Amino acid sequence: MKEVSRKLLDVQQDYIDKIRLENDVLTRKPLAFVETYGCAQNESDSERLKGMLEAMGYDFCDSTEEADLVLYNTCAVRENAELRVFGNIGALKHQKNRKPEMIIGVCGCMMQQAHIAEEIRKKYKHVDIVFGTHALFKFPEILDGARKGGRIFENENCDGEIFETESCHRDNPPLAKIPIMYGCNNFCTYCIVPYVRGRERSRSAENILKEIKAVADKGYKEIMLLGQNVNSYGKDLEDGLTFAGLLEMACKVEGIERIRFMTSHPKDISDELIDVMARNDKICKQLHLPVQCGSDRILKKMNRSYTREKYLEIVKKVRQRMPQIVLSTDIIVGFPGETNEDFEETLSILKEVEYDLVFSFIYSKRKGTPAAKMPDCLTEDEKHKNFDRMQKVQNEIAKKRNDAYFGKTERVLVEGLSKTNAEFLSGRTEGGKVVNFRGGSELVGEIIDVKITETKTWSLMGEIIK
Ligand code: 5AD
Ligand code: SF4
Repeated sequence: MKEVSRKLLDVQQDYIDKIRLENDVLTRKPLAFVETYGCAQNESDSERLKGMLEAMGYDFCDSTEEADLVLYNTCAVRENAELRVFGNIGALKHQKNRKPEMIIGVCGCMMQQAHIAEEIRKKYKHVDIVFGTHALFKFPEILDGARKGGRIFENENCDGEIFETESCHRDNPPLAKIPIMYGCNNFCTYCIVPYVRGRERSRSAENILKEIKAVADKGYKEIMLLGQNVNSYGKDLEDGLTFAGLLEMACKVEGIERIRFMTSHPKDISDELIDVMARNDKICKQLHLPVQCGSDRILKKMNRSYTREKYLEIVKKVRQRMPQIVLSTDIIVGFPGETNEDFEETLSILKEVEYDLVFSFIYSKRKGTPAAKMPDCLTEDEKHKNFDRMQKVQNEIAKKRNDAYFGKTERVLVEGLSKTNAEFLSGRTEGGKVVNFRGGSELVGEIIDVKITETKTWSLMGEIIK
């Protein structure tokens, strides 16, 4: 670890110890309510924030009513997530009036944007703490300031370094999320991520493997390697290690049986990666490969650096080596300048690839991104109609893809009780498909054989094979 990181980690630990000592003398543990918006990367950040809270002597609660500390970890990718955050912090004002000692914090991607932090400073005076993605590691110090009665704003950009923390409170056993890199260099013209998460920074293989070994020792069987663009892992390091190389190292960790990763930019999918995936049984045959749209004209305006043809070539190569691959993608409908003809090309690429799962979004204008200044041609109503049409087409494809699993036996990692029926368990196949089946909670965390007895659009039903 670099010297500066070590020093910052020591400072972090000093504040953790200080707050822990203060909390230890209280008659009860203070309660924290942490809510996370957005992607898996944010969920992973929240696990680290919660790890720090745990180390500082906090317990967790499920509602803001009981909380001594409320922390929202926010997402800036689309406007609707931002509006929900503003709504939620607005709603806390009365609670804070009734309980002035309560601390309200807002952090993450939204808070890395100066204009948002400013709006909170001026209009949401009951918020005590604001810190961006670059200041997550400073959380204990920031919290200490707020506990002393201060109002703390930290959203300066301190790009170029990864600050490790050893604390982590994992949310979703038995799957452990492991960040391998932060930030993004791609600057897709619609996307705010490079502005709020900074340039790509890879964690050292040493730190990543240390974390994987630690979760394996705790009994985790499955890991998910996370990054905005995992396929460019290592390009900023000096040891020449690639993402494919890192995957091979991860496969050697004893106790880990399944490895997934997210997200892959199509321009960075290498033959080496496809080969490593195909050769290693531990690497799940699942690939999230965002295409965003099917029209070359729009792909160019999005700055995606691949054409439809190039993308389809990658899909073909992947399917040739791994016929069982479960493919998913992201689609944006209504990018500025997208015409109905462009949209037809998106529909046609969905039909051509036949994805198992599609995450679709209506374009949301993000201040400061190049697309925000591009002229639009469809109305909101037309965009919504296209969006609905696309979902209908994709739902049929998804059902057809799931139908192919009928009667097959799948290896399923049991994740927990089903959310809708307590007599059922919920788990995932190697390809990442959700399967629900009857069974007891003692199976949670185990990998078992399940025969698929019914198929739906979003999930599968099955029976345990004894
Ligand atoms: N509007 C709509 N969707 C967006 N995404 C990113 N930025 C925007 C935006 N401005 C989508 C992309 C990306 C996913 C995580 O979110 O599809 O892959
Ligand atoms: Fe955003 Fe593009 Fe980076 Fe993904 S690759 S985070 S869409 S800029």
